[in-house]
Amino acid sequence: MLFSPRGGTYWFMRNFWPPKSLVLLSCLLAFTIYVPAQSAGMSADEAHRRAEALLKQMNLDEKIGQMNQAAGMAIPGLGGGKPDDLIAKGGVGSVLWLIDVKEINRLQHIAVEKSRLHVPILFAFDVIHGYRTAFPVPLAMASSWDPSVEKAAQRYAGQDARAAGILWTFTPMVDIARDARWGRIVEGAGEDPYLGAAMARAQVRGFQGQNMGPDSVLVCVKHFAGYGAAEGGRDYDSSYVPEELMENVYLKPFHAAAEAGAGSFMSAYMDLNDVPASGNHWLLTDVLRNQWGYKGFVVSDAFAVASLQVHGFAKDPEDAALKGVTAGLNMDMASGTYVKNIAKLVSAGKIRETQLDAMVLPILEAKYKMGLFDHPYVDESKVEITLNRQEGRELARKVASRSMVLLRNENQTLPLKKDLKKVTVIGPLADSAHDIEGGWTVEGLFGGGGKSHPVTVLAGLKAALPGAQISAVPGPIPGKVFLGMVDQFSGAKAVAPPTAEETTEWISKVKSAAADADVVIAVMGEMASMSSEAASRASMKLPGIQQQMLEAAVATGKPVVLVLENGRPVDISWAAEHVPAILEIWFPGTEGGNAVADVLFGDVNPGGKLPVSWAHTAGEEPLYYNHNLTHEPEDRPNFTSRYWDVASKPLYPFGYGLSYTTFKFENLKLSKARVKAGDSAEVQVDVTNTGSVAGDAVAQVYIHQRWGSASRPVRQLEGFKRVGLKPGEKQTLTFALGKDELQFWDPQTKKWVVEPSTFDVWAGEDSTAKLHAELTVSD
Ligand code: BGC
Repeated sequence: MLFSPRGGTYWFMRNFWPPKSLVLLSCLLAFTIYVPAQSAGMSADEAHRRAEALLKQMNLDEKIGQMNQAAGMAIPGLGGGKPDDLIAKGGVGSVLWLIDVKEINRLQHIAVEKSRLHVPILFAFDVIHGYRTAFPVPLAMASSWDPSVEKAAQRYAGQDARAAGILWTFTPMVDIARDARWGRIVEGAGEDPYLGAAMARAQVRGFQGQNMGPDSVLVCVKHFAGYGAAEGGRDYDSSYVPEELMENVYLKPFHAAAEAGAGSFMSAYMDLNDVPASGNHWLLTDVLRNQWGYKGFVVSDAFAVASLQVHGFAKDPEDAALKGVTAGLNMDMASGTYVKNIAKLVSAGKIRETQLDAMVLPILEAKYKMGLFDHPYVDESKVEITLNRQEGRELARKVASRSMVLLRNENQTLPLKKDLKKVTVIGPLADSAHDIEGGWTVEGLFGGGGKSHPVTVLAGLKAALPGAQISAVPGPIPGKVFLGMVDQFSGAKAVAPPTAEETTEWISKVKSAAADADVVIAVMGEMASMSSEAASRASMKLPGIQQQMLEAAVATGKPVVLVLENGRPVDISWAAEHVPAILEIWFPGTEGGNAVADVLFGDVNPGGKLPVSWAHTAGEEPLYYNHNLTHEPEDRPNFTSRYWDVASKPLYPFGYGLSYTTFKFENLKLSKARVKAGDSAEVQVDVTNTGSVAGDAVAQVYIHQRWGSASRPVRQLEGFKRVGLKPGEKQTLTFALGKDELQFWDPQTKKWVVEPSTFDVWAGEDSTAKLHAELTVSD
């Protein structure tokens, strides 16, 4: 069988990677990061006019060709070793997994010069958090609670990508993740639809600009939709999400991205309520096109059209192509199913050519909007200059420090003083250049690594403390029991766990190095390949012998700082009681080590907040703050809707994060105590920096509808702002509560409604905020 049931990219890479014939894939004060404007592209009307004119000249095969995204290498069944012949015949609309600039230009020359209608190819790649300079992983950037951070990073990544010939990125991933066992939680903005929508819009604008143009990169919003609800947090597993939950939670960031002008969407791998997302008419046509009026195009996830057969949904490849087209899927990623079957379906009268016209038109429009017909080639002389811009390093450092979350800081352990003489750094992540950049780095993942020169935490500490003696005890590298897709890319091998003797030896090394130090910095968590695609976990414990090493360091009585590098919340219940300071850095990117030093030594005051509820243990997952009340709410004395063996509240709540200063929230006021449904009230709250250093507060507004035609979440985020405040400074912040914030999708009428009811309104520092007001909504 060509494709494995859980296959996708994993299967493909395992069998065909690396390719043989081609060289492929080969501050203390808040600031708004400056994002330069992009060149304006062709207007939508003009792009539409030209695309229609071109479409009229196309024959059937050329139309089908535009719907075909070929892998930038030989694929069995597609003939020939290289896609050259097919491209020359106009049979390829897009190519993915190709980063060799010369090869990109060579293929583009074939498309532009040899194909009958000279239609350029849209080259695509996963530019998720940077191209050469890696920014923090998306979960980290969401922790900044500052959309300008995402926008600036993705704008920069887009400039790099476009200079290197990548025109289309498979970003942003806006899947809501309520279950930290799911490895792809690291690729998105966490559990909340409101925060997720804000980060989705920022990413769209970062890559595409206001309008797409010759220096934008087309985005692809993925994975449409419900992928993050995979059963048991197991990647690719089925999702069962009722329509009301889709509308009120899972679809919201997708809708926001569509409204922000996202040029394309990607359909997900899994079955949604038993219908595979890539053949799901409800998702791709009823919701996306008919409800939202979306005018862009949808590409399948890798091999997902062929997989419609594997799911037991399509009878054969021809049926898979039919089901994809009928559902509303414009482009087939890498499986070749469309290119081999659509013509037959048209001859048999199962697909009308006018149906195909509607599928091809938005693909051509995107190519026009991006200026691709006028600028099809990469200027090879500029690639390295662009990719090595120093400003990218500076931006990456700022974005990284702005994304870090201080989870614990007993007795003001942090910030550390810069006159430390002896520092011991422990943990396998302390000096791992690959891991600090995170999993989805373009060059790191696909063979061109080594060009970005990442700064590890150890290197960052050494640069910050040139006079200090810094010793490192890494310990053994933790391995996975079963390797995943990313391991295949990087050629990782299974790592045997240390023997009892080796463990004892490492622990005694930790003890003696720690005993000799002024401070111990433990850099621990998960290796980058332990999250992301096909990297789900059943346990959230620190893998390997990290926990033992940490306990040994703490037992010496020396101050210990835990710097957590990981792609999901991990089980730090012990550390949360015994380690005085914990800083969450996620995977902070190329400048991560310098950014960690900036925060640890107080040059930057951390202001990030958690975009996820942090569980004590995996058994609590899925865990999210915006659940319903139940008949046994938590404030009841005999609260029994709970586990009897673990606290019912998360270890750290959604929106939580400390600072080196303190803030006071007060004077929560509503401009009106009563509004008519559809009208707005203004929420006002004062926030004051009550400490002695400048810092950033993130004001968060939550609401709850007390009664109505459906049970509503105990709380839901409906506003946030990150502001920088000097010591003693106060700001009055305002937020709107109107139709967008108060409405919900009513499962009874199946409509968006603002209902007459009383709404609780809270404002404060996290999802447990106490400052409260009441808003009455009347008919
Ligand atoms: C992933 C997508 C990715 C695609 C192309 C798939 O396996 O699910 O997120 O964009 O591969 O690399």
